[in-house]
Amino acid sequence: MHILITGGAGFIGSHVVRHFLGRYPEYVVTNLDKLTYAGNLANLRDVESNPNYRFVKGDIADGKFILELFAEHRFDAVIHLAAESHVDRSIESPVEFVVSNVLGTVNLLNAARATWNGAFEGKLFYHVSTDEVYGSLGSEGMFTESTPYDPHSPYSASKASSDHFVRAFHDTYGLPVVISNCSNNYGSHQFPEKLIPLFINNIRLKKPLPVYGAGLNVRDWLWVVDHARAIDEIFHRGTSGETYNIGGHNEWTNIDLIRLLCRIMDRKLGREAGASEKLITYVTDRAGHDLRYAIDASKLQRELDWVPSVTFEEGLAQTVDWFLANQAWLDEVTSGAYQHYYEKMYAGR
Ligand code: NAD
Ligand code: TYD
Repeated sequence: MHILITGGAGFIGSHVVRHFLGRYPEYVVTNLDKLTYAGNLANLRDVESNPNYRFVKGDIADGKFILELFAEHRFDAVIHLAAESHVDRSIESPVEFVVSNVLGTVNLLNAARATWNGAFEGKLFYHVSTDEVYGSLGSEGMFTESTPYDPHSPYSASKASSDHFVRAFHDTYGLPVVISNCSNNYGSHQFPEKLIPLFINNIRLKKPLPVYGAGLNVRDWLWVVDHARAIDEIFHRGTSGETYNIGGHNEWTNIDLIRLLCRIMDRKLGREAGASEKLITYVTDRAGHDLRYAIDASKLQRELDWVPSVTFEEGLAQTVDWFLANQAWLDEVTSGAYQHYYEKMYAGR
């Protein structure tokens, strides 16, 4: 089995690559990644000498290159994670999200279809998506696999569009596909622009913690290793044409989560109780900010027996430990050009 994993140098992709190489030593994994600001080969140092691992630097938006890559390697399966993934960046630069997330996905679908050419037995295109395609909930209810799409940010609109193309290739050409829509991930190697690693980084540096609006938006948080485990189950035992929601049954308002993180960090850094909470700074709300995401993952539990393996407290403590033990990683990815992004993003906030 030769699997193409796209976006393998990013946060979730690097965990998926590590999981598949570790659990299936007979598989060959090719990691295709453009190495944007979010892609970092240091995330895969521990697997790069594995003889079954290959890295290709390339852009999924380049259709000719993608067709040639598929023609050369004739992959048996694709696990597609490459994407622009940050909502705030999508508000600044929506076109990049269309190019990578929509055009990039269609290029991969096209190449898989051309290469497999109707001989679909044993083949699979696995598309990794987000719960954000379903839009925003009030205080009640959860997203199920049949919740109508209602994206609000350029990021979620681009992911929704890519999901529709994946289904269209299944319905029109019979391409074997599965889609999973997952809630917010956290864990090691996450780029410090997303809430948890950004705040871990700022707390360690005693910098302000910019809480959008009143901090009352709700997210469901899942440990990234459990996402990789779910992808494994769906990849091997899911049904073609189906969608699976993945979530942690673990809802937090941002402000409660931030306070918990502050308490954990104070303890681990030997700071006086309450010291980090003083860094909380309420800033202008994100435009179009979805109020609440909550995932009903009962289909995945019922059909494929998947449940999260750790509690949030365990996963979060382990995540904080990783970032504190890998401060050089944080310094590297937040240095230089990245600073300009920070300055622009948080100007006036
Ligand atoms: P990330 O930003 O950390 O990594 C994305 C990776 O894709 C990077 O390595 C980047 O270099 C690569 N990439 C971007 N554009 C590319 C292009 N045009 N060609 C080739 N490579 C390109 O993102 P992540 O958080 O690991 O998310 C991975 C996937 O999971 C995305 O599809 C995202 O929509 C989805 N997802 C993320 C979350 C989350 O909480 N982070 C939740 C649900 C779903
Ligand atoms: P984020 O990690 O960007 O994930 P998403 O927007 O995809 O859910 O943000 C999680 C929540 O935290 C979201 O409600 C926005 C909020 N947030 C802040 O309050 N401050 C910040 O600096 C960031 C990055 C996010």
